[in-house]
Amino acid sequence: MSQRQIARFTVNGKAHEAAVEPRTTLADCLRHDLKLTGTHVGCEHGVCGACTVIADGEAVRSCLMFAVQADGMDITTVEGLSNDDDLTPLQKSFRKHHALQCGFCTPGFLMAVYAYLTDERPAGELTDEEIREAISGNLCRCTGYQQIVDAIALAAQRMGAQHLGSK
Ligand code: FES
Ligand code: FES
Repeated sequence: MSQRQIARFTVNGKAHEAAVEPRTTLADCLRHDLKLTGTHVGCEHGVCGACTVIADGEAVRSCLMFAVQADGMDITTVEGLSNDDDLTPLQKSFRKHHALQCGFCTPGFLMAVYAYLTDERPAGELTDEEIREAISGNLCRCTGYQQIVDAIALAAQRMGAQHLGSK
């Protein structure tokens, strides 16, 4: 059995320490060690985007990252999107446009879109093509994507200068 190593990182603003095997993925560490089951695991090889979290400001696939690689990083999961009991503008936009059915893909979409709208978003109005490009790394088997695109367009409008994580 492999020797466990200690990974220390911040998740949703709180310091965590986990004793993990070197091969433990960040996704498994978040779900099993930290009990943050909002991060979903689908394909487990970097294709579906369901496991997307934000690490030091960048959207990453937590199934492709070892927990020990996250040592010292600042991680945000879907549980950390809202800072209290209310939903963020992005989440409200998904609800308004019914941008989910089974919801399995939704945490990954929210995190990828969060990173896009807060960090990588081009100036000016977003086109549907730009939105579809931004979510091209996330797969949904239920919605047909149009509601997701509509929700992101609304979120982008609602945010304006407003930060996504605030009310
Ligand atoms: S579970 Fe990580 S990309 Fe599919
Ligand atoms: S809502 Fe079911 S996979 Fe996207």
